[in-house]
Amino acid sequence: MKLFFQNKLYILAGILGLATSCEKEFFPQPPSAKVAKETTKLEASFTATPPLSLSDAYWKTADYLNIPLTDLSKNELYSDGFLNMTGTFKGLSSFNKGEDPKVMMKAAYDKTRVYIYIEWTDSDFSPEFAASIFNGPNDPLKPDTFRRWTSQGNSDKVALAFDIANASSATGTFDVVGCAASCHQNKMQTATGSVDIWNWDLALSDPLGFARDMMTDGTKGLHDDEGDNLASQNKIIQGNSRSAPIFEWDGTQQSYKRPDGKITLLDPGFYLLNKTPYIGDLDKGDKIYHDADYGCNHCHGEFGGGVGTIGEATAFASTGFAGKYSRASIKSYSASELHPGLSYWQKVPAANQDDLIAYIKGLGSIPGYYLKDPTGSSANIWSVSNVVRGRINTGSVHTNYKVILVRDLTTGNADDVQFLSPKGKSFPFGVALMDHDGKNHIGSLKHLLTFKL
Ligand code: HEC
Repeated sequence: MKLFFQNKLYILAGILGLATSCEKEFFPQPPSAKVAKETTKLEASFTATPPLSLSDAYWKTADYLNIPLTDLSKNELYSDGFLNMTGTFKGLSSFNKGEDPKVMMKAAYDKTRVYIYIEWTDSDFSPEFAASIFNGPNDPLKPDTFRRWTSQGNSDKVALAFDIANASSATGTFDVVGCAASCHQNKMQTATGSVDIWNWDLALSDPLGFARDMMTDGTKGLHDDEGDNLASQNKIIQGNSRSAPIFEWDGTQQSYKRPDGKITLLDPGFYLLNKTPYIGDLDKGDKIYHDADYGCNHCHGEFGGGVGTIGEATAFASTGFAGKYSRASIKSYSASELHPGLSYWQKVPAANQDDLIAYIKGLGSIPGYYLKDPTGSSANIWSVSNVVRGRINTGSVHTNYKVILVRDLTTGNADDVQFLSPKGKSFPFGVALMDHDGKNHIGSLKHLLTFKL
């Protein structure tokens, strides 16, 4: 009875409490769990523990900014011999096959670093950049049909732009027009001042766990930061799309320790890290491949397509194939009892084996760049991502990218934006995304990154 009376009292007090908004005094409740909500700025909250992995609890409840997208540049093509590299040619209507990629960002900071999370949908996975192919396919968007070596394919990328020093162009200053301040005379260039570009690239930066750190200004235009950069063109004549590759994979496992300490394996069909000179005379190799008596074309196809006059065999002309086989393994497999073409291989003159393999590797594709340790200001921006790099299957359906870019708040380098005592401050930035492209991009010119108190 007494208990009942007491309960009644509490209920009464509770109702009164509600009316006087003193509810908490009577019914103490645990603090409610944080729920992620959409914000209008990219809000970085302070966190004591670095959210360095995609599964970190911080990202589950962090507020997020949805990025509205427009065409930033389209209808651009690469110069002679660079083919099939413009998957975002029509802008929004070609990116992610025209479906909204739903770009979303989150951010965090701790005492020393800023962490920027970016997520977007891209239905196909494009891990190569300007790979060397011998007698490769045409580009439906380009008239150049001359073959032998060309550079083919392009990677998926996301780039962020920050103002370093009062960048401006004819359209205005960076704090007003954002990225448009780095677009001048149709180039990625400012009129005055400089812009920091963080370029995450599926072919050239993510494999080693970095974003490519670049800047653009009024005098030099877009260029890499100081220090050794992440990748060099794998061509005898630098910059020439039609020159032969210098290196190929040496056959050893490509394992690399990324800056976050995690070890990754790199698929040699797409990434070149452990390398050896690419040797052999292609024209001699071509002749042997098509030899009327012992040519591989009888089964592997006239141009490596996999269908020959007397049988079907592995297609050598598929991206990523040739890089998976080192010279030594092509030789040993061809000469093994397992190989249905063994009797053909046995007739290839020993002195011409390397010529033939140079030709077979060219039918596939040889990575257009080789990767190397970055140093100095080129090693500032780390990347963490959900990309699987050890064994790439470009045929499987790809859904979305999740990337975290990590950088020290201040670097002391003139070619970087500095987030000096950032608490309570906001910094303008722009975002650009590329689907199998590097010239055409979609994105958003200006947002604010705010470091919350
Ligand atoms: C009589 C038909 C035939 C001829 C001719 C032939 N091959 Fe093959 N080769 C095959 C078949 C079939 C396979 C696939 C075997 C398998 O998947 O088990 C193969 C596979 C290979 C592979 C391994 C590819 C893989 O997927 O593992 C290499 C390397 C190779 N051949 C090299 C050569 C070379 C070099 C020549 C020319 C000297 C040649 N072959 C001529 C039938 C042939």
